[in-house]
Amino acid sequence: MLRVVPVLMLIAGSGFFLSGVSHAKDSVEHATVLDHTSVTYLSHCGGCHGIEGVSGNSFVPTLRNAVGGFACTDEGRAYLIRVPGVSMSLIRDDQTLADVMNFVMFRLAGTSLPKGFRPYTAAEIHQWRGEPLSVPDFMAQRGQTLERSLAACAQKTAKKL
Ligand code: HEC
Repeated sequence: MLRVVPVLMLIAGSGFFLSGVSHAKDSVEHATVLDHTSVTYLSHCGGCHGIEGVSGNSFVPTLRNAVGGFACTDEGRAYLIRVPGVSMSLIRDDQTLADVMNFVMFRLAGTSLPKGFRPYTAAEIHQWRGEPLSVPDFMAQRGQTLERSLAACAQKTAKKL
């Protein structure tokens, strides 16, 4: 379903969402129409992570050009779904959440997205959101998960050279 979101005209100038823009027959002239996945990201995640995945100077991690760093290990791939903001999201439908996470990876992860990244499936979302991360030293574990994945990313790149 396509929805007209006039307030989002503010970001029309950025060009960022252009590939997600389509025009319904009854669309308001000059208003930006976003696809369902973009709107879902904006309403459920964008308030914290920023409309373009940049959260600025806050405790919320920046996704843009960064989040893909987790995706070179299975552990990191699962982490990105098990993290509380994703696993406990009010987006209850697994396929919709998979679409939002693939939007995050393919549209926001930018330079950090590992080559050959496989899109998340609804089955993966279903499994990992059933195992939400809840550890006392969350940030320490996040750091180790990222470190292991970045090391794996570097190895993959080295092998190709
Ligand atoms: C209330 C603010 C908030 C909302 C809403 C939110 N997040 Fe987060 N997100 C965070 C914080 C804070 C972290 C860091 C881990 C933690 O403390 O839970 C995080 C971590 C993440 C991570 C891991 C990245 C990393 O660097 O550790 C991903 C991926 C993510 N969020 C995606 C999403 C998506 C997709 C949505 C919407 C479905 C969402 N988040 C909704 C605040 C939020």
